[in-house]
Amino acid sequence: MFKRYKKTRINQSMRDLVRDVYLSKEDLIYPVFVVEGENIYQEISTLPNQYHYSIDKLPILLKKLKKANIDKIILFGLPKEKDECGKQAYNPNGVIQEAIRFIKKEAPDIFVITDVCLCEYTSHGHCGILEDEVINNDLTLEYLNKIALSHVKAGADMVAPSDMNDGRIKSIRHALDKENYHYIPIMSYGAKYASSFYGPFREAACSAPQFGDRKYYQMDYRNTKLAIDEVLNDIDEGADIVIVKPALAYLDIVQKIRDKTNLGLAVYNVSGEYAMVKAASQQDLIDEKGTVLEMMYSFKRAGANMIITYHALDVAGWLDE
Ligand code: PBG
Repeated sequence: MFKRYKKTRINQSMRDLVRDVYLSKEDLIYPVFVVEGENIYQEISTLPNQYHYSIDKLPILLKKLKKANIDKIILFGLPKEKDECGKQAYNPNGVIQEAIRFIKKEAPDIFVITDVCLCEYTSHGHCGILEDEVINNDLTLEYLNKIALSHVKAGADMVAPSDMNDGRIKSIRHALDKENYHYIPIMSYGAKYASSFYGPFREAACSAPQFGDRKYYQMDYRNTKLAIDEVLNDIDEGADIVIVKPALAYLDIVQKIRDKTNLGLAVYNVSGEYAMVKAASQQDLIDEKGTVLEMMYSFKRAGANMIITYHALDVAGWLDE
């Protein structure tokens, strides 16, 4: 006798009954790019169907979110002016700070997460303050504190430092607590790998480094164990949620981290992953809906609770069908 596994795959109802992985809209976080200026609602060349929004055009975004029933976003800002120290990143009236205020006023139920980093704001495009062309880690922490605080003061619900400097979680936690923001959670990009999958984002966020690369602060993809270490360290320092980034090529890391912590665990399904699916489906090489849903379930299967993805609005629509 052999076992007949096909019995439980016989039709959709049976398959639904035996499945053990679930995906819902509540799991999804939608990344949004806000640009300084007016009257800008422009498709991003490297990310089909993703847009740059100026603040006056954010109502278009809010309408899309409402229609899809997605209520969580992560914001990225593109300032008009950049300088060595990324001053616009912590300007209380900067593009992100104003965007948060606008969204919180127009749609208070939207949960607003902010990416805390310098690369979109520095003239050199690196994620920190440079000294002899290298990031000065400890000096950078002071700037990250200022950025995170400015976001929270503007109304952000959660901050997500993505710079990969050492000690950033402890430093930001301390800065927030000092001003009595004890209840604001920190979502740490704990395992962020130096990845070629960020290419389209750097175009979208104008954040490509002007020289060198990010390999001395982001992680080397030939490492497993160090990722676990770094994530556990971020948790020690006060991270409330941790992110693995990119997602698709790193599901082993997701699973290992899931085994080590009970905290919320996110994957960032990054720009290059999105762009690949878009390119292939536009050429009719793959079925977009099928491929994307399969990817989303694989993130959940690996152990992620939440997914940051440019596909969020589409996925929401497909889940409704
Ligand atoms: C940077 C940041 C990056 C992404 C999110 N925050 C890129 C980078 O490190 O260059 C990438 C997101 C994506 O590729 O979708 N602070």
